[in-house]
This record gives sequence, structure tokens and C-alpha cells, in this order.
Amino acid sequence: MKVFVTGASGYIGGSVAVRLVEAGHEVRGLVRGPEKGAAVRRLGIEPVLGSLDDHDLLADEARRADAVVNAASSDHRGAVEALVEALAGSNRPLLHTSGSSIVGDNAGGEPSDAVFDDDAPIQPTPDKAARVAIDRFVTGSAARGVCSTVLCNTLIYGRGLGPHQESIQIPSLVRQARRSGIPRHIGRGLNVWSTVHVADVADLYLLALEKAPAGSFMFVENGEASFRDMVTAIGTALGLGEAKPWPLQDAIAEWGYERATYALGSNSRVRGRRARALGWMPHHASVLDWIAEELPAIAGANETDKA
Ligand SMILES: NC(=O)c1ccc[n+]([C@@H]2O[C@H](COP(=O)([O-])OP(=O)(O)OC[C@H]3O[C@@H](n4cnc5c(N)ncnc54)[C@H](OP(=O)(O)O)[C@@H]3O)[C@@H](O)[C@H]2O)c1
Repeated sequence: MKVFVTGASGYIGGSVAVRLVEAGHEVRGLVRGPEKGAAVRRLGIEPVLGSLDDHDLLADEARRADAVVNAASSDHRGAVEALVEALAGSNRPLLHTSGSSIVGDNAGGEPSDAVFDDDAPIQPTPDKAARVAIDRFVTGSAARGVCSTVLCNTLIYGRGLGPHQESIQIPSLVRQARRSGIPRHIGRGLNVWSTVHVADVADLYLLALEKAPAGSFMFVENGEASFRDMVTAIGTALGLGEAKPWPLQDAIAEWGYERATYALGSNSRVRGRRARALGWMPHHASVLDWIAEELPAIAGANETDKA
């Protein structure tokens, strides 16, 4: 298959693109700039220079592809509209990358019993309403002849398979801990996120391209953990002290409002039955095991990266 991937130089898009190449597909990947183009070319991906704002470029690439994976952004409405318009009536697959902060709360480190399955009604906070509207636009495009799927990823961990190997949440916690010497979670850290390993994510994208029914929405998860447990594991892996609570306002000063509130201080607990119904069999079940076993080597390799 000829597949057009946006975000090909990024963590999710690069991992999916590499997996597609390994599986024998011909991949063209959107990248911003020649350096990133050279990096993806080395991995067997044909670079397409441009941005998500280049409506005509996205439409042209989508029309010449057998399938499209949008992994550059969960929040860029214009790009999604361009891809859907181009694919309308073709019945070709469009996979769109979303994130499970759409069910996130404003817990500031407190726990929650709320668990969402693929069919649960979603009532997003005002901050996440636009993302949910994009997801609904994508699933709704099935009625316009697009074989569309929303893959709603949880906290992804593990080393990316493409040029960019770092995810979002765990690396943020690690950088803070290394810089200050104190591993910190927001508030009591009893908030819980569902988690998934990036290699399992890439496997699911491959499977969804072939098998997902038009208009599907699926959560992507395999296990969950509290932030206190993750930060404790990070502290141990890095040889730092005990995990400490941190007021939300201080965390916002470090990580910014969006990341502190939704990515690190919230609960996002979901169950992905639809992905398993496709035959997806994730191999990695524990972010805590991954932190204990893999993080020391990665952190050592990045010893000079204090950014
Ligand atoms: N990682 C996770 O755990 C996770 C989980 C759920 C959802 N998500 C969401 O999934 C999306 C991708 O996440 P990621 O972790 O793969 O991020 P990432 O590593 O930053 O990758 C994003 C890629 O998309 C490219 N990109 C971003 N905006 C673009 C634009 N306007 N035009 C062209 N290319 C653009 C970036 O290009 P440059 O390299 O030039 O910057 C980068 O290669 C994000 O919206 C994120 O919030 C991530």
C-alpha cells in the first residue's frame, strides 16, 4: 500500500511510519524542513516537505495514497478537513491520532473512579471540546465515503522507532526530576492514566489500516498506573530520592497549563475493547516495569541533555 503519514519525524508518526516500511508498505511522510527529511529518508520514508497548513499539498498527497495516517497533531482542524475532503467518496482508510486527555479531569493529583470505554459518551472540559469535535468530524466522515478511524492514545511510553524517540509525559517527569534532583508528582499523585507502549501503538495502526470498520473510535491502552507510582519508579531508576508532592501552580510554572493540568495532574482511565476486537495483542503491559528496566539506560545515554 502507498501510505501518506503526517508527523513522520515525530514520536507517534515516526514509529508508525517505520513499522509500515518494515511491513513492506511505501510510505511518504510529511516533515518540516530538509534536515528532518534526510532523517526520515534514512529510515526508508520518502519525505514530503510542508506543513499541516498546506491544504493543497495535504489533499494532493491524500489523493495519490491508498491510505492516510494523520499523526502530526490531534488538534489541527484544518489538516483533518483537507484530508477528509480529498478522501471523500474513495472509501480509503484515514487514521487520525487523538489523545485520551479528552476524558481527562481537573483532579490536581486526586484519584477518580471514572473509567471510559470506547462507547462512553464524552463530555469534554471546554479546553478539550475542539479536540473532541475533530474526533467526531473524523468518525462522521464515514458517511462521506472515508474509511475513517480515530485512535485515541493514552500515555505512550517507550523509545520511538523513528527519528524522534521521546514521548510527552514520562520525559517531562524525568527532566524535572533530573534538573531539580527531586522526583515530583502533582498534588498527592493519586491520579491515574491508562498507558501503552509505543511499539504496541505502531502495531495497532498497522492493523487498523487493514481492518478497522469505517467510522470507528478506539482507545489505545494496555494497563494503567498512578503518577505517584510512576514518579516513585522514576526516582528509583535515576537513583534520586523519594517522590514528593508538588502544588499544581508550581507544576504549571514548570510544565505550562495544558501539560500540568491535563497530561500530568488529571485522571484518564479508559478501556480499549474495540482495538482488541480487531485482533490487537499488545506485548507490553506495565509502564512501571518499563521505567525500572529501560529508563536507566536511556537516562544515562542522555546524561548531557538537561533541556
Ligand atoms: N505521545 C503521547 O503520549 C501522545 C498520546 C496521545 C496523543 N498524543 C498527541 O498526538 C500528537 C502527536 O504526538 P507525538 O507525541 O508524536 O508528538 P511529536 O513527537 O511532537 O510529533 C509531532 C510531529 O508532527 C509534526 N508537526 C506538528 N505540527 C505540525 C505542523 N503544523 N505541520 C507539519 N508537521 C507538524 C512535528 O514536526 P516537527 O518535528 O517539525 O516539530 C513532529 O514531527 C500530538 O497532538 C499529541 O498531543 C500524543
